[in-house]
Amino acid sequence: PGIRPLVAGNWKMNGLRARLGEIKRVADASDALAPNCDLLLCPPATLTYVATTLAQDTALCIGGQDCHPESSGAHTGDVSAAMLADCFATHVIAGHSERRADHGESDDLVRQKAEAAHAAGLIAIVCVGETRFERENGETIAVVGRQLEGSLPVGATARNTVIAYEPVWAIGTGLTPSLEDIGEVHDFLRQRTETLAPGMRLLYGGSVKPDNAGAIMGVANVDGALVGGASLDAGGFLAIAEAT
Ligand code: G3H
Repeated sequence: PGIRPLVAGNWKMNGLRARLGEIKRVADASDALAPNCDLLLCPPATLTYVATTLAQDTALCIGGQDCHPESSGAHTGDVSAAMLADCFATHVIAGHSERRADHGESDDLVRQKAEAAHAAGLIAIVCVGETRFERENGETIAVVGRQLEGSLPVGATARNTVIAYEPVWAIGTGLTPSLEDIGEVHDFLRQRTETLAPGMRLLYGGSVKPDNAGAIMGVANVDGALVGGASLDAGGFLAIAEAT
């Protein structure tokens, strides 16, 4: 059997309580989409608990966008994986490029966060991806390989870890790599993860929309999507899941 796709939505720093209806709409539609793929939404931490309540007894999973490597302590403003798990979250993103850029997160810190996710029983979604400068310099595979090597948690399996390839220049820009370029990186990621964790899910992220999702999901070794902007609207997110 093939790898079951995961369609994940990352709301980033968007979403007041007034948007909870979108989560409810996705939750209500999730059982019908369950034959196609797993569905995950990662709202801001403020909405985690109420989101899991809305998604209870449906096929929709709820995740966090980041976690601290420690489970508790004097780290004002941070959220731990244990706290997310306590709110019934099942996944957490580690090392999104916006965290790497805005907070200077290193590969080693990302690895520690992913290991903290595992310790709390969460599935870690580890993000990698090159900048425009790195792509133009022909460094894409080298950069992605280095990030993967440094960020992959010890003990990673196909069940507890997902990799998301997100070219930084494709995030929120409406630009995407060619299908060939996406395929090249995903083939490389498959080859790098296959011995360690056969069947690990490899997501593509960066300007995935309802109209390009089908083509991108059709690329070999693309096992789902990490969707930003288009996940804020239930209709758009569900259309992407339907195209998967
Ligand atoms: O985590 C999601 C990605 O950063 C993609 O964002 O779909 O808005 O380009 P985007």
